Amino acid sequence: MTISTPITSNTELLTEIKRLKQERNAIILAHYYQSPEIQDLADYVGDSLELSRKAQATDAEVIVFCGVRFMAETAKILSPEKIVVLPDMDAGCSLEDSCPPDQFKAFREAHPDHIALTYINCSTEVKALSDIIVTSSSAEKILSQIPADQKIIFGPDKHLGGYLARKTGRDMLLWPGVCIVHEAFSETELVKLKAQHPDAPIAAHPECPAHIVAHADYVGSTSGILEYAKNMPGDTLIVATEPHIIHQMEKAMPDKTFIGAPGADGNCNCNICPFMALNTLEKLYLCLRDLKPRVEIEEGLRLQAKKSLDRMLELASASVGQGDLGAKK
Ligand code: 13P
Ligand code: SF4
Repeated sequence: MTISTPITSNTELLTEIKRLKQERNAIILAHYYQSPEIQDLADYVGDSLELSRKAQATDAEVIVFCGVRFMAETAKILSPEKIVVLPDMDAGCSLEDSCPPDQFKAFREAHPDHIALTYINCSTEVKALSDIIVTSSSAEKILSQIPADQKIIFGPDKHLGGYLARKTGRDMLLWPGVCIVHEAFSETELVKLKAQHPDAPIAAHPECPAHIVAHADYVGSTSGILEYAKNMPGDTLIVATEPHIIHQMEKAMPDKTFIGAPGADGNCNCNICPFMALNTLEKLYLCLRDLKPRVEIEEGLRLQAKKSLDRMLELASASVGQGDLGAKK
C-alpha cells in the first residue's frame, strides 16, 4: 500500500523526488518548456530529438517524462521494456489535437502518390500512419534526403511546413494545424520591442507564423536557439518561443540579456504552453511514488509507429546535409 502523507514544502518534495529516483532506478527527462524547478531537477534537459535519443539510450528502468504526452509516448515506442510515466496525462498539444487520426488517414488516402513527412508533435496513431517523423531540429536535414520529385504531405504544423517549403523550395501539401503558443506572438508588439533594442537579434522557433519568422535573424529548434544565443553578435536576444527556455539561457550565459517576444498584451505570459505547465513538482513526486500515470501502447500500433520514428533517427544521424534549420539570412 502506498503511504499518502501529504508533503507540503518544496524542499521536502525535492528530497523525496531524489530519493525515489534512486530507489526506482529512474531517469527524469525534461523539455526546455518545463518550469525552472523541473528543469533543475532533471537528469537531462533537451529538445524533442535529443529527448527521444536519450529515452532510447538510457538503461534506467523508469523514464519520468516531464514534457507533453506525445513526447512520453515517443519514449515508450522506442523503449517498450521501460516504465514510462508522465506527471499529468492531460498534458497534450494543440498540434496533436488538430490532427485526428481518422481525418489524417482519409487525407493520406486522397493523395496516394504522396509520402507523409510528419512532425513529432502528433499522436502515436498519426505516427503509425506516417512514413517519416521529423523534429524541428532534424526536419531540413531529413527533407534534403528525400528525392526532389517525391510528392510530400507535411503535417500537422502548417507554419513549420510553410517555413520548410519557403526555405527549401519544396512544394508540400500542408495539414492546417498550429501551435497555440507560437501563434500568440504579436507582430506589432515585436516591432515595438525591436525598436527599443535595435541591436538585439530575434531568434524564432519555426512553429511561429510567417509574419513573425519574417522578423527573425535566426530560425531554429529550441536547442538551435540556445546554440545561437551562445554565438550571437552582442549580448541581448529577443526570444520568440516558449519563454521557459530562457531559464537555460540565463544559466549558461548569465552576462547576457534574454527578452521573451511579446503577445498582444505586450508581455509574454500568454506564450506559456498551458500543456507543459500541467506538470508540477508535486505531480512529479506523485508519479515517481506511484509509478503512474503510465504510458501504455498496444503492441501492433507501437510497432507501426516505431517504423516512422526509426526512419527519423536514421536520417537525422546520416552524415549528409544540414542539421538544425539554421540561420535564415
Ligand atoms: P523542439 O524542442 O524540438 O524545438 O520542439 C518545440 C516544441 O514545441 C515541443 O513541443
Ligand atoms: Fe504543443 Fe505548442 Fe505546447 Fe509545443 S508549445 S507542446 S507545440 S502547444
